[in-house]
Amino acid sequence: MTRIYDEDLAGGISTRGIHAGQRPEPLAGAIMTPVYLTSTYVQDAFGVNKGYEYARGKNPTREALERNVATLERGRHGFAFSSGMGCLDSIMKLFRAGDHIVCGENVYGGTFRLFDKILRHMGLSFTYVDTRDPQRVEDAMTPATRALLVETPTNPLMRLTDLRAMSDVAKRHDALLIVDNTFATPVFQRPLETGADIVWHSTTKYLNGHSDMIGGIAVVLEDDLATRLQFILNAAGAVPGPFDCWLALRGTKTLAIRMRQHDIAGRAVSQYLVGKLGEDCVIYPGLEYHPQHELAKRQMSGFGGMITLELGTRERARKLLEGVRVFALAESLGGVESLISHPASMTHASVPEDRRAELGISQGMVRLSCGVEDVEDLIADLDGALTS
Ligand SMILES: Cc1ncc(COP(=O)(O)O)c(C=O)c1O
Repeated sequence: MTRIYDEDLAGGISTRGIHAGQRPEPLAGAIMTPVYLTSTYVQDAFGVNKGYEYARGKNPTREALERNVATLERGRHGFAFSSGMGCLDSIMKLFRAGDHIVCGENVYGGTFRLFDKILRHMGLSFTYVDTRDPQRVEDAMTPATRALLVETPTNPLMRLTDLRAMSDVAKRHDALLIVDNTFATPVFQRPLETGADIVWHSTTKYLNGHSDMIGGIAVVLEDDLATRLQFILNAAGAVPGPFDCWLALRGTKTLAIRMRQHDIAGRAVSQYLVGKLGEDCVIYPGLEYHPQHELAKRQMSGFGGMITLELGTRERARKLLEGVRVFALAESLGGVESLISHPASMTHASVPEDRRAELGISQGMVRLSCGVEDVEDLIADLDGALTS
């Protein structure tokens, strides 16, 4: 399995993003990791190989990405998958029928769909709780609970979960703490440092950052857990192609600098929106009145570029979604280009309507992923659509 180079941990987050896991290629010294387009590796002799046998198990381009992201998260082992959902599905193969999982009630719609429509029928059981309150999480734990899964900030409600408190609860119950770090990225939040066991990402989003591939990655510290995940990765085989790994690896080189700009945009655009629409309409953890602003400041070193708006009616949402020009109406987030979406009918359509209503994912809700365009252009774009 892939293990980081310990010496790569020494640098800051920008240095780690650019260099970690990559060494000049031995033939010509190419600074960029080659795309190893191969399915198999020729053996030196019968029973003797260079550590590579078949590319489902290991590929050097994939290893470079795995080492890179594992080093960014300050973990030890990385496991790249063909999508974020493929990654989570493989993580869930650590468990068996009869196991119970506690999960945040507001997670990505696809996470809920995987649990509710597939894994529930294979013998796993799930309890969904408001993980903003550690007591509720504690109360949901049972002797059969094997894992606690959280996403922070959440998609799309931008709620936060106290990761240290979650780690305490998980440890008391001998359960794994699994954190979806897609929104914050290791630039702003590193859950392994506050006691998480597994951190995972949709690399499709900020890590790649250029909206040109689909992928997922999991990172762990502990060797035994890593051995089990490597077994699943190879046995179940939801692995990414080398070119997608290379694209993600190119993306992480600029992750830190992009995140700083996403954060600048998030702060400025949210301030503008508060002025235009009022405090009740704008949800962004960087705003002082966000109910968890203090936790956000303590747990994250930046607030990012994701903003959620509550416009009250589907008609007002439609006007904004169709009125913008720089923001593109599309699913996904975390790319250099700004995107706008309607969670109730797009990313969270798979969450039943009554559950969406309970959670507050309304027809008037709009989600913004602020890209790295000029901030004035983003504000002017929104202003045009909201004023017309
Ligand atoms: C927070 C979060 N986690 C996981 C996923 C799933 O990742 P993928 O689309 O790469 O399968 C998404 C996708 O939107 C997401 O927003």
